[in-house]
Amino acid sequence: MAHQKQEEGKGRRTDEGEAYSFGYTSVSAQEKTRLVHEHFDSIAGKYDWMNSLLSLGLHHAWKRKAVAAAGLAPGHLVLDGCGGTADLSLLACNTLGEEGRAIVYDMNRTMMQVGQRKALRSPSAGRVAFVEGDVECMPFPDGTFDAVMVAFGIRNLTHVEDGLREIHRVLKEQGTFVCLEFSKEITWWFKPLYDVYSFAFMPLAGRVLAGSRKAYTYLPESIRVFATPGELSNVLEGIGFTDVSFTKLTQGIAVVHRATKGSAGRPRT
Ligand SMILES: C[S@@+](CC[C@H](N)C(=O)[O-])C[C@H]1O[C@@H](n2cnc3c(N)ncnc32)[C@H](O)[C@@H]1O
Repeated sequence: MAHQKQEEGKGRRTDEGEAYSFGYTSVSAQEKTRLVHEHFDSIAGKYDWMNSLLSLGLHHAWKRKAVAAAGLAPGHLVLDGCGGTADLSLLACNTLGEEGRAIVYDMNRTMMQVGQRKALRSPSAGRVAFVEGDVECMPFPDGTFDAVMVAFGIRNLTHVEDGLREIHRVLKEQGTFVCLEFSKEITWWFKPLYDVYSFAFMPLAGRVLAGSRKAYTYLPESIRVFATPGELSNVLEGIGFTDVSFTKLTQGIAVVHRATKGSAGRPRT
C-alpha cells in the first residue's frame, strides 16, 4: 500500500472550536475524523458482509449503476475516493481494459487491507492500486483523473465541501464525478418502514452480527443529518461542477449523483 505525504492539496485546515455532526452527536473536527476512523476500524472485517445483509444485496446493483454513470472507457485512470474495500474499483476494471487503472484512496488502512485481499483474488489484480490518505487533502496533481467515484463516503467527511473541491481539482477537464450516497428523501409510503428498519433493526443487527450496536446506530443517524440530493447538487454547482444531476434508487434510499468538471455541454476529448 502506498503512503504518500499530502503535498498537492491545500493542506488540512485548523478549525477547532467549530461543531461537526457525528450522527446525532456534535463533536470537534478532530474528534469527528477520529470517530470515523474508529468506526471503520471496528467494522472493516465484516463491512462487506453487513452491507450485503443490510441492503439485501441491493448495494451491488447500486454500485453497478454508479460505475455505469461514470462513463468509463478503456485506458482511463479512475479514482475510487473513500474506496474502502474496493468494490467500485473492481467493477470499474471490467471496463478499463489492460491499460486502465483504478486507485482506491481511503484514510482507513484496515478497510483497504480487506479490499487488497479481494483485489488479489480478482482478475483485476495489478490494475488496482491502494493509497492511504484523506480525500479532503489529496496528494495527486491537478487534472489527474478521467473520473472520480465515491460510494457511501462523502457523508463521512468532516469538511464535505473541502473534499468535493479536492475531487474537482484532481479531475481532468471534462472528467466525471459520480457520488453514490444514501439519502433521507424516501418515498412517503416507504419512509415509516425504512425508519423502523433503520433505527430498530440496523442497530440490533449491528450488535448481534457485527458486535457493534454503536457503528450501526451511526449509519442511520449520519444519513439523516446529511444533505438532501438537491442540497448536495447545489454544493456541487457552487464548487464549479457542471451538468449536475442525480437519480434516486430503491424508493430514494440511495442516490447516484453525476457531475462534470468544465463547461456545460462541451464534448469530451
Ligand atoms: C461506508 S465506507 C464506503 C467504502 C466503499 N466506498 C464502499 O462503498 O463499499 C466509507 C469509507 O470512507 C472512508 N473515509 C471516510 N472519511 C474519509 C476521508 N476524509 N478521506 C478518505 N477516506 C475517508 C472510510 O475510511 C471508509 O472506508
